[in-house]
Amino acid sequence: MNLHGDIERVLFTEAEIQRAIDRVAAEVTSAYDGNDFTVVSVLKGSCIFASDLIRRIPIPLELAFLAASSYGSGTVSRGLRMNFLPSDNEIEGRSLLLVDDILDTGKTLHFIQAELDRRGARGVRTCVFLDKPSRRVVPIEPDFRCFEVEDTFVVGYGLDLAGRYRNLPYVGALREEVLSRHSRPDSTTG
Ligand code: XMP
Repeated sequence: MNLHGDIERVLFTEAEIQRAIDRVAAEVTSAYDGNDFTVVSVLKGSCIFASDLIRRIPIPLELAFLAASSYGSGTVSRGLRMNFLPSDNEIEGRSLLLVDDILDTGKTLHFIQAELDRRGARGVRTCVFLDKPSRRVVPIEPDFRCFEVEDTFVVGYGLDLAGRYRNLPYVGALREEVLSRHSRPDSTTG
């Protein structure tokens, strides 16, 4: 089975992705030049973006990871919980750059940002690979972003459907028959 066959169209090619990351890496570099900071990658979706991004940032930084997921189902109201957090000394008093794969409703990044603030971060800025502003529920704008994307479910370059497609090197939309085999996935499992 070849994953490429499930893709209806490519939204961002490998070359476009690399150019966008060059641009965002330069923006991050000038924003943090002279200041110690930690890149906090939200698992699992942002691991590919974060690893490409940090290799283009030629100033000192530290790297940490966290994971959040949603709970509740069906008509039960959903909430978020942290599954995994950096240790307190990686958060307290540190400038953090929270890196995620996609900013959709905004609930996930808003929740994580509030949790890091509560734990004493000096400041938390956000950097997302994709931004889907048409789906926003929580008023949050990323400080840095590679691309704005239409309201289509996308996979590849870290983004998944039911755990698959993260390893595609581009971002694509899935064919309708592939999507219809799955209900729209919960948007908060990273
Ligand atoms: P919220 O809605 O909290 O969601 O901003 C952020 C998380 O939702 C997932 N997500 C997607 N995953 N393709 C994906 O593979 C998409 O089009 C998509 N939209 C949202 C993702 O896990 C993200 O971290």
